[in-house]
Amino acid sequence: MKLTGITVAAIALTFSGFVSAEAPAAGDVEKGKEIAAGICAGCHNPDGNSAIPIYPILAGQYPGYLAKQLHDFKAAEGETAKRDNQIMAPMAATLSEDDIANLAAFYSQQKPQSGPVTDASLVKAGERLYQGGNLENSIPACSSCHSPDGQGIPPHYPKINGQHPGYTLSQLQAFRQGTRKNDTNSAMQTIVSRMSEQEMKAVSEYIATLK
Ligand code: HEC
Ligand code: HEC
Repeated sequence: MKLTGITVAAIALTFSGFVSAEAPAAGDVEKGKEIAAGICAGCHNPDGNSAIPIYPILAGQYPGYLAKQLHDFKAAEGETAKRDNQIMAPMAATLSEDDIANLAAFYSQQKPQSGPVTDASLVKAGERLYQGGNLENSIPACSSCHSPDGQGIPPHYPKINGQHPGYTLSQLQAFRQGTRKNDTNSAMQTIVSRMSEQEMKAVSEYIATLK
């Protein structure tokens, strides 16, 4: 068979389709920027450095993780979304595959700023748990998956450093309540089921200090 330009492109497309679960096709940053400015900036700020603690900072996050979240917010007919959130569900519902890839590319290339610590008295306790875990209650060190500096390990373990403490705490609670169940092998759901409210608060404050 003689490979024409079109067959080569078709093979490349099929192949990138397989790979997309791991690493999505590189998106178009300029197109992503346009959608972000039009729909997302009101909450996440134009560069993804949201100023309000309930809205996560998206700047500098891995594109594969961002794309996965935007998919997980979408609910299939008659089912609850794996990440069930009333604010993001309608946002994600309007996005095409290309839009998602473009937005993920745009945000991943923005320079992240840190959200402010809200209770400095908890930072030390948070550091102990993050870096060392809690052996007594079988809580693993967060650093083992999210790395000691919170930079994460792509594509599965997100970057969490510098995030608003309020948002981080809300996600730990969501994993506990089961409104967020999009973590592979229920890793996060298992861990938070062993954590106290105080531990969740403390580790959220510490994470904001990581760079
Ligand atoms: C009205 C406010 C609002 C708008 C507009 C909005 N978001 Fe969000 N976004 C949120 C909230 C709130 C959350 C946290 C949801 C949760 O708790 O699960 C969130 C979470 C996210 C997350 C998950 C981040 C993470 O670290 O897991 C991504 C990705 C995201 N938004 C992207 C977008 C994109 C892209 C747009 C535009 C198409 C957008 N958002 C528009 C409020 C908003
Ligand atoms: C065994 C690996 C593992 C360990 C240990 C782990 N995590 Fe995670 N964590 C994950 C995975 C996987 C995800 C992404 C889930 C997804 O795809 O949405 C995640 C997501 C998160 C998120 C959501 C980030 C966002 O932007 O919404 C937070 C916050 C978080 N982890 C905090 C922690 C804390 C705090 C600890 C320690 C108490 C911890 N993690 C330990 C695997 C782990």
